Amino acid sequence: MVLILLGPPGVGKGTQGALLCEERDWTRIATGDLLRAARREESELGRKAQEYMDAGNLVPDELIVAMVRERLEALPDDAGVVFDGFPRTLAQAEALERVLEETGRALDGVLLFEAPDEVLVRRISGRRHAPGSGRVYNVHFDPPETDGVCDETGEPLVHRSDDRPETVRHRLEVYRSSTAPLVQHYEEGPVPLVRIDGDRDMKSVKRSMLHAVEHLESDG
Ligand code: AP5
Repeated sequence: MVLILLGPPGVGKGTQGALLCEERDWTRIATGDLLRAARREESELGRKAQEYMDAGNLVPDELIVAMVRERLEALPDDAGVVFDGFPRTLAQAEALERVLEETGRALDGVLLFEAPDEVLVRRISGRRHAPGSGRVYNVHFDPPETDGVCDETGEPLVHRSDDRPETVRHRLEVYRSSTAPLVQHYEEGPVPLVRIDGDRDMKSVKRSMLHAVEHLESDG
């Protein structure tokens, strides 16, 4: 299976993508996580991406596509792959089609997560992140057992630098102008695009997602 998780910032792509990959033993390629790791490692890619990310803008397509290609080429041919936060522009979608073809894969479906802006802003304001374990919490909806500390590693939780309210508003605008057109692109394409109501508790969203995935698996 090769799937894309599409949707605005804060809708739950990362949360649900991690649950799906755990359930199916698939690989999640989350471009935001890869870029944050590159920043922590202070690699050249991390240095180049920093300014764009802090401003809530998209990192240039060529950097993103090269990073995704490298990840994909390192995977076994039969690995299930879930793209989270990629593609985000039409150029990235077209590049993904080429990379999949070159690596002998094909896209099976797109899951579009949706929720109103006020829900997204509230979720993002409560998000806390453990850089070492990669776990994501929410002070309103999914708090850690001990305030401010990761349950798995005990490391202090941090607020993402691009989760400030003014940057979040800008990220939502960037989503609308650059990424939302992909909905029509995939609706008109050869594989199913399944809409998932992300404005429910995490378990209900997970149930709908797994239901959609089972349908895609039986279609394939
Ligand atoms: P990225 O990290 O991809 O951020 P994003 O797409 O803006 O998505 P988020 O991580 O904000 O949200 P999410 O949908 O994963 O929600 P989550 O599950 O965390 O990108 C960051 C930046 O990197 C971009 O701005 C750009 O600069 C750059 N970048 C990345 N990819 C790029 C690309 N392809 N091209 C160019 N640039 C790129 O959930 C949010 C919170 O809500 C969490 O706290 C969670 O616990 C909670 N939550 C989740 N589900 C629920 C629920 N059902 N009920 C209650 N709370 C919930």
